[in-house]
This record gives sequence, C-alpha cells and structure tokens, in this order.
Amino acid sequence: MKDFSSFKDSAHYPVMLKEVMKVCSPEKGGLFLDCTFGCGGYSNAILSFPKTRVIAIDRDSQTKKYAIQTEKNFKNRFTFHNIKFSELNKSIGENTKLDYIIFDLGLSSLQILDLKRGFSFNSKNKLDMGMGINSLTAHQVINSFDLKTLTNILRFFGEEEASYKIAKNIIKKRNTGQIKLTTDLVNIIKSSKKKNFKKKINISTKTFQALRIFVNKEISELIEGLIKASKFLKSGGKIVVVSFHSIEDKIVKFFFTNFSNNKPKLSRYFPETKVEKTLFKNYSNKIIRPTRKEIEINNASRSAKLRFAVRNKEEFFYPKNLKDRFSYYLELENSHV
Ligand SMILES: C[S@@+](CC[C@H](N)C(=O)[O-])C[C@H]1O[C@@H](n2cnc3c(N)ncnc32)[C@H](O)[C@@H]1O
Repeated sequence: MKDFSSFKDSAHYPVMLKEVMKVCSPEKGGLFLDCTFGCGGYSNAILSFPKTRVIAIDRDSQTKKYAIQTEKNFKNRFTFHNIKFSELNKSIGENTKLDYIIFDLGLSSLQILDLKRGFSFNSKNKLDMGMGINSLTAHQVINSFDLKTLTNILRFFGEEEASYKIAKNIIKKRNTGQIKLTTDLVNIIKSSKKKNFKKKINISTKTFQALRIFVNKEISELIEGLIKASKFLKSGGKIVVVSFHSIEDKIVKFFFTNFSNNKPKLSRYFPETKVEKTLFKNYSNKIIRPTRKEIEINNASRSAKLRFAVRNKEEFFYPKNLKDRFSYYLELENSHV
C-alpha cells in the first residue's frame, strides 16, 4: 500500500484517505469525479497513480488556488470546476461515464479556520456561514425569519432540544437591534440553554450545524448530487461517501439500501410495487470508520462514516422516492429562496 502520509500536511487533513483509496483502487487507473475537492487531498492522492484522471468540483472559490497547483502538477489529467453538487453534470460530457465518484461531505479546515466566514462559534465575526454560491447568509436567516421557521431549522437540521427557546430569544434580541456577530448568537444560545456538564459537545454546536445546513441547502445538494452521480457512474463503478452527521448518513444509507438489487422486500417507506427498478448491485450496509490512530491525530474525523455502493447494469432512472422520503427537509430548505 502506498504511503499517503505526505498528503496529511496539506491545509486540510484528508479524512479516511487510506480507506477511500482502498475502496477506489486508483492503482488500476480510471476516471474519477471528486465532488468535494477542498484542498485537494483526495484528488492529489488519486493522481499520484499514473493511469488516473480526475475531474474535481467544489462550490468554494477559495479552493481554486489549490486546484491551480494540482493542474500544474498533473497536466492533462486534472480539471476543476467551481460548481455545486446539484450542477455536477456541467463538469462532465453528456455521454461520459465515471469509474468512481467521491463525496467527502461537510467543511474543510480551510473554511472552519477562516474566522471571517463565521462557521466557528469561537470567531467574533459576521454571521455568514456560506460555503460558496449561496443565496442566503446566516445573518439574513437570524434577522428576518419567523419564529416557526427558525424553530424548525434548529430542530430538524440541528436536532437541538432547545430549538423553540433559542428561536424565541433570537426574535426577542433582534427587536432591540440586529444580531450581527457569531458571539451575539453564542450569547443567545447560552442564555437559552442550561449548561450540561455531562455533554461533550459545545452548547452552540447544534445551532451552528443547523444554520450551516440551511444556508448551504446541504440536504438538497446531497440528494441531487447522489442522484446525478448515479446517472454518470459506469456499470461496476463506485459511489463513495464520507459523511459526518446523522442526517447525511440516513440519506446515503436509504439511497444505497432501497435502490440496490437486494433492497428490503417490505420497505417501511413505500410499497414495493412502486420501486421496481434499481441502480446498485447488492448493498452490504457496511460502514467503514476511521481508525483510533486517525482520530487521535485528527479529532475532526471521529464522526466520519464511509459508505459505498456499486452501480449495476440497469439503465438510469430518476429515483424520485429518495426526494419523497426526505421531503420534509427539502421543503424546509427550499421554503425561503
Ligand atoms: C471536507 S471538505 C473536502 C476535503 C477534501 N477531501 C480534501 O482532501 O482536501 C468538503 C469540501 O466540499 C465542498 N462542498 C460542500 N458541499 C458542496 C456542494 N454542495 N457542492 C460542491 N462542493 C461542496 C466544501 O466547499 C469543501 O471544500
């Protein structure tokens, strides 16, 4: 096995790099789509094998500088597009089929550590939270959304138990002036929740996660991205997803399980007669987790889950049921444009 340790010195520590490489076997070559280029950890590792070609996308324009470097290092084998998952078709020719499509979800260290972007509750900056190509900022959400929508955002996307109380205190505070900074929001959260010393996560984590998901329409993006990816995947090609929170994992698991040849006979979610067609070979429901050593080196990897599915020979069809199943998230994300 190749030593990938040098890729860990990049601006973002690529989570589960070894495991992703094992699933993708870049030593055999092939055409890859890296849907989350970030600082290029995965793309560069793949391209270090000579018979590979990589198309990469990322919604964050700040990643372009890393892409330019990768382009220089791997001439004619790498292209980059500053677009979102939902537009991934724009990076591929209509008849092109890919061997591997990879999603490494969430934020890069580059984004979290840039305090101006307001992702971190340790920053004292403007509430923004956009990953790139956004139509909304967290500031707009916090300062203009009604009580019910704010409560639902925090409840559904953050699984925050104090969602109503926090939303109510947001409205109360903004009646006295705009809520501008991340610190203002942190203070509202602190005044709305009792500190639970048994809980390991920060008191603000769930609210910040919820706002980030909403502002970036992460659920709509993931669902549309998975669907488009399966359209461009070769028969025998793999779709690989590293996810970090339970909503993402629930969606990936549902997609791979219910559209595979061994899909459950009696689905809880829709009558079998409605889903005759499939997209994937038998799905084993196997989850690959980071090693203890990786978690020690990079604590951010602790919640990572890697799943992959193999495309079968069936012709592509639009798996509408995936959207139907998660319609409550999609409706919430798309209720305010
Ligand atoms: C965890 S980082 C990926 C890190 C990368 N694997 C590496 O090794 O450097 C996730 C990246 O995906 C991008 N991203 C998240 N959602 C996206 C979307 N819907 N469309 C395109 N890029 C997205 C983010 O901007 C971020 O740069």
